[in-house]
Amino acid sequence: MKQQNINRVVLIGTGAVGCSYAYSLINQGVTEELVLIDVNKERAEGEAMDLNHGIPFAPAPTKVWAGDYADCGDADLIVITAGLPQKPGETRLDLVAKNTAIFKSIVKEITASGFDGIYLIATNPVDILTYVVWKESGLPKERVIGSGTTLDSARFRYMLGEYFDVDTRNIHAAIIGEHGDTELPVWSSTTIGLESIETKLAKNDKYSQKDLDELFINVRDAAYHIIERKGATYYGIGMSLVRITKAILGNENSILPVSAYLDGEYGHKDIYIGVPAIINRQGIREVLELELNEKETEQFNHSVEVLKQTMESTLN
Ligand code: 2OP
Repeated sequence: MKQQNINRVVLIGTGAVGCSYAYSLINQGVTEELVLIDVNKERAEGEAMDLNHGIPFAPAPTKVWAGDYADCGDADLIVITAGLPQKPGETRLDLVAKNTAIFKSIVKEITASGFDGIYLIATNPVDILTYVVWKESGLPKERVIGSGTTLDSARFRYMLGEYFDVDTRNIHAAIIGEHGDTELPVWSSTTIGLESIETKLAKNDKYSQKDLDELFINVRDAAYHIIERKGATYYGIGMSLVRITKAILGNENSILPVSAYLDGEYGHKDIYIGVPAIINRQGIREVLELELNEKETEQFNHSVEVLKQTMESTLN
């Protein structure tokens, strides 16, 4: 039995994404307990040993061990990174059938443990797999969250920071929609410092909309560019998952573009998709409805349509 006042995170899947998450999590001292579960138990054991040997250098102690599904019963948060990753040339949606099957068996085991906390999903296609977890777990929609476009928005803010030569933390900008090929930038509510993109472009002719359009393409296709070069992406997503974990366990009420369930927001229902949401100890406190312009609305509706079509042809 776990003590009541401490946090337990269970990580399912100790591949490159899971381990980048675990490494970043212990380096930021976010949770008291971290349980590693993998189909390859020896791999999880080895990772736990290796991570534990770094604990003397961490800002706060984390108890790390290789466990099993029985450890999920007392967990506050379960993070799933298990499943097949994209191969060069594959889209995220290409993974849907195989990863849905893997997810159904994982959620069955977790439910049997009596788990009643919050799920955070990272495996692709993340919007669809988050929906699968919500359906299979029977938990309230607020307690099932996907990493959504948190990483894409981080890539966007990073690249905008480089372009305008300002600290990326002073850039308020989001990518919304599918975490994948149909995602879109919300230019209409992007601010650099406290200035709108329109003001920035009007003030200095070294900046152009053409450059910004190219910048977005690089954000959208970033995973392909990385996979072509090193075979996989994992640090960026690992750190994005830690950011969401901190917002949950620290009851932060932070606004992050996660994959959230829409129940009429943006005119859509019965879908998980990347939108800004307020995140706290309850999970998703509220989905924020941005005022999208006509083009953004059209792009968002298209993204919803593509996800729904993929779900209809694979989940039913
Ligand atoms: C990423 O965007 C592949 O979804 C993963 O890095």
